[in-house]
Amino acid sequence: MTSNTERILIVDDSSLITKMLRVKFGSMGFDVRTATDGLLALEVIKGWMPDLMISDVMMPNMGGYELCKTLRQSPETANLPIILLTAQSGVTEKVKGFESGADDYVTKPFDFEELEARVRVLLARSQAQKGESAHEKQGGELFACFSPKGGVGTTTIAVNLAVTLTQMWEAKTALIDLALPIGQVAVFMDLRPNFTLGQMAQKETLLDEDFVLQAMLPHNSGVRVLSAPRAPELSELITASLIENLFPILRDNFTFVIVDAGRNFTDAALSILERADRILLPLSPDLASLQATAVTLNTFRELEYDLEKIWPILSWTFSQDALPQKEMERALGVPIQIVLPYDPRTVVQSINRGTPVVMQAGKSAISEALENAAYQLTAENHLGKPRNGEPPVLRRVRKRLVG
Ligand SMILES: Nc1ncnc2c1ncn2[C@@H]1O[C@H](COP(=O)(O)OP(=O)(O)O)[C@@H](O)[C@H]1O
Ligand SMILES: [Mg+2]
Repeated sequence: MTSNTERILIVDDSSLITKMLRVKFGSMGFDVRTATDGLLALEVIKGWMPDLMISDVMMPNMGGYELCKTLRQSPETANLPIILLTAQSGVTEKVKGFESGADDYVTKPFDFEELEARVRVLLARSQAQKGESAHEKQGGELFACFSPKGGVGTTTIAVNLAVTLTQMWEAKTALIDLALPIGQVAVFMDLRPNFTLGQMAQKETLLDEDFVLQAMLPHNSGVRVLSAPRAPELSELITASLIENLFPILRDNFTFVIVDAGRNFTDAALSILERADRILLPLSPDLASLQATAVTLNTFRELEYDLEKIWPILSWTFSQDALPQKEMERALGVPIQIVLPYDPRTVVQSINRGTPVVMQAGKSAISEALENAAYQLTAENHLGKPRNGEPPVLRRVRKRLVG
């Protein structure tokens, strides 16, 4: 991000100060908003996350110290750079400011150049920290497909996403079947695994990179698959601690890690959902599916998942009497990002043949939609990377979406 798109929130009950700072920072290319007390600032932040906040201390309703403390308690704003504008310059005030979690303070009356210098220092520091944490997290992207209701294309999406991403970005992709108690990825891909997550769980203490990579079965698309245990009673072997040991190895070795996380809130599924960079949440346009998804989203909210990582997918598993999409979005409180068309013939044929939809001969609406979805999910991070030529699936999708 270049500095001229950075957002600054200015909080002060004096409209002279908010106006003046808005004009000055605005003319420097910053995106500036203002609020006249702490409570209103919290309202603004809910819909517009700033890159930095400058706040007065003495304000009605909620003052600067309390505002700082409140922001520090929430994960999204815990590291937001904050500068307090204080009228007093005593040591007690400084200590109070830092204790409340402010990064810096400037005493009133202040010199604009000084304030600007402090703003730039804090923004640069925060950019550097963001870069570092992105770096730490490097390794493959983790996408989890989860549907509390089931029967809405969860496994179809996971399988076809894995195949498409492998080909679109010529990327190493792992597909893990965690849809317990009866995982079906192997059936969808016509694979007969000798080795599954069940055996892996029994060898947990020996989990090292070589072992994990050998255990994954190659599919003719290039995807490497780790199947669910063969029998439901083996499900209990799949613990959160297995996931904690396994997934760092997968992320280190694959560009994409796709998980069919099934429909149950098991410890293992929760461990995946928490780690996932994106949760794909397929639902069909009926009340039962909508209700199950809305409840799931509430649980995600309570667990303080970043709602931006959750992508509901509207999956047309029937053709008539659907709930309107707008109403569904209103009930969910998050937008539907992807729509998959009704195409029972193609989907069922593909399952019966064990050939993923996107690998079937002949194009179908559902295959195009699944390819587009794979692109929508990953283009931002992968388009810029150097590659040799343009794989056919990438060319097709870009032609459809970009023209
Ligand atoms: N786009 C679609 N059009 C029509 N039917 C679909 C579609 N996607 C899925 N289905 C139906 O849903 C069933 C379940 O699909 P599946 O991928 O196994 O979902 P889940 O993993 O959520 O149970 C399929 O057998 C098919 O009948
Ligand atoms: Mg399934």
